[in-house]
Amino acid sequence: MLKVLFIASECTPFAKTGGLGDVVESLPIALRERKIDARVIIPKYNNIPAEYKKEMIHKRTFTVPVAWRQEYGGLEVLKHEGITYYFLDNEKYFKRDGLYGYFDEAERFAYFCRGVLECLPYLDFKPDILHCHDWHTGLIPLFLKAFYQEQPFYQNIKTVFTIHNLKYQGVFPMEILGDLLGLDDSYRGDEGIEFYGKVNCMKAGIVYADKVTTVSETYAEEIKTVYFGENLDGILRKQEGKLQGILNGIDCQKYNPETDPHIYVKYRHSLVKKDENKVKLQEDLHLPVKDVPVLAMVSRLTRQKGLDLLLHILEELLTLDVQLVVLGTGEHNYEQALREAAERHPQKMKAYFMFNEALAHKIYAGSDLYLMPSLFEPCGLSQLIALRYGALPIVRETGGLKDTIISYNEQTGVGNGFSFTNFNAHDFLHTIKRALDFYHNRKPLWNKLFKNALKANFSWTSSAQKYIKLYEDLLTGQKEGNISTNTGFRLFKKG
Ligand code: GLC
Repeated sequence: MLKVLFIASECTPFAKTGGLGDVVESLPIALRERKIDARVIIPKYNNIPAEYKKEMIHKRTFTVPVAWRQEYGGLEVLKHEGITYYFLDNEKYFKRDGLYGYFDEAERFAYFCRGVLECLPYLDFKPDILHCHDWHTGLIPLFLKAFYQEQPFYQNIKTVFTIHNLKYQGVFPMEILGDLLGLDDSYRGDEGIEFYGKVNCMKAGIVYADKVTTVSETYAEEIKTVYFGENLDGILRKQEGKLQGILNGIDCQKYNPETDPHIYVKYRHSLVKKDENKVKLQEDLHLPVKDVPVLAMVSRLTRQKGLDLLLHILEELLTLDVQLVVLGTGEHNYEQALREAAERHPQKMKAYFMFNEALAHKIYAGSDLYLMPSLFEPCGLSQLIALRYGALPIVRETGGLKDTIISYNEQTGVGNGFSFTNFNAHDFLHTIKRALDFYHNRKPLWNKLFKNALKANFSWTSSAQKYIKLYEDLLTGQKEGNISTNTGFRLFKKG
């Protein structure tokens, strides 16, 4: 049985700030269903819910070298819904509020990467593949080569590094190279970890991993360009032979309007029942109960998610006969602007600045249109969830949004949402108006679109298979070409 250890800084339901946590939860489950022994390791954060913490079993104590320091390492294990989760325990680094944003971030995650490699012999499970996610784990492929390669236990272990968001790279002063990472100057330079005179953990992952993936085929192409490359496009072009885009999936059990315990009325292909969800949502949120299109956004409130476009057209949008619901947390200025708009238009707009899973599900089920005008989007999960609930996505054509949402074509009847190309607020508004025209004046087409959305299949079925092939190819030493082509045919593929 192929053994894969997922290494990440977050994993739902233990610790999550974004889509990374969802993928690190749902992909191992999908792999497990396909007879891959996939397990997960994350830091043991203070904020992990007590119900899980109390079930963890302490397996081993060991020491972790952080350059010249010797730090405590504790390995804890928890079996949860058929998957084995490991937690690396060190209270100095992880017994704090929240997951990120501390002054010693470099040390915390250098420790985590060394600690994971140190604890492998104690897992009772020798991974064939270390599957690392985002910059927090980027040092693992490098440390493996620098410190462990000679030891027989580690010799055949391969590494995969997945980029979920190239924007966050873990860039620190060069001083940490010796002082925290314990590396000498031979790891510097363009071909090494150096990035404009600093250390870049994301670059370490890209350069030293055996294979690099990102979460959609279009994003795999985009990040090789200056516009999306976040100053790593040059290195990504150089490494393109080992770069592949594999689209994320979603857990279709968790997001299923037929069985979802959070929503008001369960439904399958029924717009009537979906409308009942809308009425209940309007009641709950104290919006006027009427037949009006409900627009929704459930999102981190950051520049990436296109909040600037929404704010630019918000007043104009709210002159139309619509209701708007926003749920999410993020940058203060966006929260403030949305809060003020909601106060100005209490009959039309509600905004909630929190994380609330149950309300999120109710919003997906109760809304007609889902707004996602992202500046860039490595994959995006919420447009896929929206499709599952028959809320039609309105997206900008970038990254995973381009690969999953096909703008409705009236000639062919093909499409599962609406899209626009340029990062332009009025293109966005125009696209919303196009969608509203279908809602008000062309009900049969609206119904068809609703059915198209529900028909789309973005489960893990096909992507899990691609990861398995990638793991197998790595183990048999086969070289994979770069197959990052955007076909756009996914909508019609079964499974
Ligand atoms: C990041 C990206 C998002 C992606 C998610 C999971 O949050 O911004 O587009 O879906 O990671 O890969």
